[in-house]
Amino acid sequence: MREPVLQAKGLVKRYGMVTAIASGDLELYAGEILAVIGDNGAGKTSLIKALCGAIIPDSGEIFLDGKQVHFKTPMDARRAGIETVYQSLAVSPGLDIADNLFLGREVRKPGILGSVFRMLDHKKMRDEAKRHMSELGIATLQNIRQAVESLSGGQRQGVAVARSAAFGSKVMILDEPTAALGVKESNRVLQLIRDVRDRGLPVILISHNMPHVFEIADRIHIQRLGRRATVITPQSHTMSEAVAFMTGAAEPPPPVA
Ligand SMILES: Nc1ncnc2c1ncn2[C@@H]1O[C@H](COP(=O)(O)OP(=O)(O)OP(=O)(O)O)[C@@H](O)[C@H]1O
Ligand SMILES: [Mg+2]
Repeated sequence: MREPVLQAKGLVKRYGMVTAIASGDLELYAGEILAVIGDNGAGKTSLIKALCGAIIPDSGEIFLDGKQVHFKTPMDARRAGIETVYQSLAVSPGLDIADNLFLGREVRKPGILGSVFRMLDHKKMRDEAKRHMSELGIATLQNIRQAVESLSGGQRQGVAVARSAAFGSKVMILDEPTAALGVKESNRVLQLIRDVRDRGLPVILISHNMPHVFEIADRIHIQRLGRRATVITPQSHTMSEAVAFMTGAAEPPPPVA
């Protein structure tokens, strides 16, 4: 039996009368892109927020590499190697692109300047940022020192995706990364997701875009009414079948092995 890299078992999250996650179960295996699909309000964002420390579930268990984890904050999850791009973007508009990329993990100058005087190595961060952004092919970016607030929505999304690809060491989680992007930028982000997977980092991708999901997912987790309805693959079912399972129009099949 393969062991999942990341696993959720029976997570529950309630907000007063609203149950965001009724029974959250998920397995992510090494080397795969796992798409998570479901209608609005199905609990997709809540599920991945529980996996990355952004919310603390009321009950249930989370395992990373087989060991149970109890993330209290997103920083706990990042330290453990889980990088997340949120649906509502977590970039700091007042900072420039390079500073956003290195937010919370700034590079210090070598030697005593960095260790004692805590001076930041801005040149190194700008050079690295430029490399990561051009890897992503955000060609429309003119200047790495441009404040993020002056970027378009799609470019901001690009910064967030580049950051998670650059720093994730165990798992990358993306909640609707292409929703705000044009066709060209979307394709680049999809390619980056494939590259990240091929580099050995498994990816969880939440998306409403069925063609994107069917193009790049290895497996597709279908979330409905706060729980996992089933797991299919792009080979096992069609897009319209997936939508039928997602909306409850058709009885979901047992999960694929
Ligand atoms: N902070 C909160 N307070 C109260 N209710 C919440 C909160 N966060 C989520 N919910 C509720 O939990 C349910 C699941 O929301 P969630 O954001 O996880 O859905 P989703 O599947 O990501 O939807 P979408 O496709 O629209 O992004 C919804 O009914 C939502 O209203
Ligand atoms: Mg959501």
